[in-house]
Amino acid sequence: MSVIQVHDKLFKPYISARQIAGKIKEIANNLERDYAEKTPLFIAILNGSFMFASDLFKVLNIPAEICFIKLASYKGTKSSGTLITSIGLDVDIFGKHVVIIEDIIDTGKTMHEFLPQLFHQHPASLKICALLHKPSATQFPITIDYCGFSIPDNFVVGYGLDYDGLGRNIKEIYKVVD
Ligand code: IMP
Ligand code: MG
Repeated sequence: MSVIQVHDKLFKPYISARQIAGKIKEIANNLERDYAEKTPLFIAILNGSFMFASDLFKVLNIPAEICFIKLASYKGTKSSGTLITSIGLDVDIFGKHVVIIEDIIDTGKTMHEFLPQLFHQHPASLKICALLHKPSATQFPITIDYCGFSIPDNFVVGYGLDYDGLGRNIKEIYKVVD
């Protein structure tokens, strides 16, 4: 594994496919323990979480539902600050045990704006599951109930995460070379 280029930036290997798979199994075990009798509804946030959501859902051995919404706040490597919902929620979450699946919590703004919209619809419970978290970039405190890896505030690509549209199909997570 070596340095790769995506658009104008260089990235180096950071979290291997094997580490990701191991962490997903751990998260799935915790979800199976907590949601055994609850038939949770997973809401995966497109685009970034599609690969994580898919791999997590495949190893989850309890009855569960999944649906997808599309939120975006990013331009290039910086959060643009405005949250756009381009595909909304088409299921009734009233009385359901909802788990949001995110690729990464960065500033926390996306979740900070989106959570109240969901609470408004009275789910039985609402938890967050994120593969990555950048604690030092967080401006809106968010409780991440199921967190894969806490990472420093460096831009990463791969495993669903992009840099201006590219890099999502890389199997591992790479971090920018400054
Ligand atoms: P937040 O609203 O600042 O927490 O940003 C969350 C969204 O920004 C994530 O769902 C990602 O789509 C995107 N994002 C944040 N950090 C990165 C990164 O390092 N690489 C790629 N996308 C990122
Ligand atoms: Mg995202």
